[in-house]
Amino acid sequence: MREKGVRSGVLVLVGALGLAACATMQPEPTLYERLRIVDVSGVPQLGRSAISLVVDDFVANVAADDRINARFKALQPPQVSRLKANLADQICQAAGGPCSYLGRDMKDTHKGMNITEAEWNATVEALVKALDKYKVGEREKKELLAALGPMKADIVGQ
Ligand code: HEM
Repeated sequence: MREKGVRSGVLVLVGALGLAACATMQPEPTLYERLRIVDVSGVPQLGRSAISLVVDDFVANVAADDRINARFKALQPPQVSRLKANLADQICQAAGGPCSYLGRDMKDTHKGMNITEAEWNATVEALVKALDKYKVGEREKKELLAALGPMKADIVGQ
């Protein structure tokens, strides 16, 4: 009888400890949730707006880079806006955010362009420059580049 009482007491204690652990254990924030930046006016930005600001800068860096800008010179302003929106959705989705990329797949988009490894590297540099401008952390930068890395096979040499 006494033994039974002790056993159920232990069970209650184990259960209570388990509940306490559940209450204090936060799920690891996604990359999307960790992408927080401060805009040029000093206002903190997160989520899709933070990503849009980084993409604006990324595209501006591409446009200023003579190694790759000729590739984009035929795009009209509405096409540039669509490219930016698609890039932001794509990055948001790759970072685990609540966005859906609705553009064309990477293989079809870049088919026939014969994009070189050097152009790929210049494009990644343009993105890194934008991430650095907004002081995105090393861990987040690495994770974002790792999330985009697998697209290389569908973009380079197509
Ligand atoms: C991280 C690497 C890259 C990503 C994530 C990426 C992503 C994209 C996306 C999302 C689009 C728009 C697709 C659509 O509107 O349906 C696009 C279009 C385009 N990309 Fe890339 N891209 C990458 C690398 C490159 C490179 C290295 C080049 C050449 C230097 C390039 C050249 C282009 C061009 C010219 C377009 C416009 C195509 C069009 O609208 O007809 N991309 N890319």
